Amino acid sequence: MNISVPRRVTAVAALAALALAGLTGTSATARPAEAAGAAAAPDISLAAVKQHLTDLQSIATSNGGNRAHGRAGYKASIDFVKAKLDAAGYTTSLQTFTTSGATGYNLIADWPGGDPNQVLMSGSHLDSVTSGPGINDNGSGSAAILETALAVSRAGYQPSKHLRFAWWGAEELGLVGSKYYVNNLATTERSKIKGYLNFDMIGSPNPGYFVYDDDPTIEKTFKDYYAGLGIQTEIETEGDGRSDHAPFKNVGVPVGGLFSGADYTKTSAQAQKWGGTAGQAFDRCYHSSCDTTANINDTALDRNSDAIAHAVWTLSAGSTTPPTGKVFENTADVSIPDNGAAVTSTVNVTGVTGNAPSNLAVGVDIVHTYKGDLIVDLVAPDGSVYNLHNRTGGSADNIVQTYTVNASSEVANGAWKLRVQDKASADTGYINAFKLTFP
Ligand code: TRP
Ligand code: ZN
Ligand code: CA
Repeated sequence: MNISVPRRVTAVAALAALALAGLTGTSATARPAEAAGAAAAPDISLAAVKQHLTDLQSIATSNGGNRAHGRAGYKASIDFVKAKLDAAGYTTSLQTFTTSGATGYNLIADWPGGDPNQVLMSGSHLDSVTSGPGINDNGSGSAAILETALAVSRAGYQPSKHLRFAWWGAEELGLVGSKYYVNNLATTERSKIKGYLNFDMIGSPNPGYFVYDDDPTIEKTFKDYYAGLGIQTEIETEGDGRSDHAPFKNVGVPVGGLFSGADYTKTSAQAQKWGGTAGQAFDRCYHSSCDTTANINDTALDRNSDAIAHAVWTLSAGSTTPPTGKVFENTADVSIPDNGAAVTSTVNVTGVTGNAPSNLAVGVDIVHTYKGDLIVDLVAPDGSVYNLHNRTGGSADNIVQTYTVNASSEVANGAWKLRVQDKASADTGYINAFKLTFP
């Protein structure tokens, strides 16, 4: 949804930026987050967020109706989110722990780049209770931060701060996953986390708009966003410390977040400002089997998803690489010797300033009768190797595919090579074309 947000730099906005800079110890160079050159957050597609919810619902349905800790539906949820992040260029890791006699998983995804000493982290619990699929609690937060992370990749966003996203396990058993993460973080690593944003239940069917009342800068960032939409907010009071921000807050990390309500009842004053039904719970399906894709208010999910992207962009204050739109291609055929030495096709990149992007598009067009024979690498000008294909796909023909490579640590200009080696005898082929697109 396209909701316009005021982008003016007001004295108040400048003060907010200074407050955050104070939080991060860089006040000497503080600039308003939305000053010229800073990138505005993209609009987050409601349809994309809802598609993730549909996928999480399917995972629950095919795994006994839930995505709870220790059940197959939880691990399948983790694998689903991880695959999307890996494909988008994130560095992901699974942290395992044991609780209630089962292995639990936290998924941590780092966006390469930004100041490693200043981390902005966003998290949501991915587990459900055993009684239902957990779509509002907490597919909603999980899907929204996933889509925000994917938007970071699509934009080739280069934040000043380092961005990290987390999907927590076993929240429903007492914040087990997030406590495990915080307890196992060295104090030096902990002190690098300049803010933690938590999203647990953000699409409640009878929604309220609650903002956590913790770090003032984070709180103000969310409140300003809603003020720009003309929506009133309230402070979150439905059990402070009942979600994964609590372990961070307890060790002194500045925290914040959004919440659309669980089993508390909406008052008539709240129904007047937000619509919906007074005298009814914000989420009548809280922790029950009816917490399905039908248990979502689209407007709340949409606004909250956009608010998350706004906060991630504003609080990490970076710029988007100016688009170059440059394409470099080599269409000369290079035959690949059967079960033989590696061959290469080269493109010479010129006229691109600085480093290659985090989302370099590598177009591979290889004609071959057995792709399972082939190892395909992208080789950067300095010799760094990025593997694109490693003998998967069996007897299928050809590799015609665009790979997204995080090449942000490589200088853009120079000779880039597509290197192909055939490692098994009988089938043969040739490189048809090799293309690099600098978005
Ligand atoms: N964390 C709770 C759950 O998953 C939901 C919840 C209740 C909550 N009160 C909250 C989440 C306040 C955030 C803030 O069941
Ligand atoms: Zn929850
Ligand atoms: Ca072969």
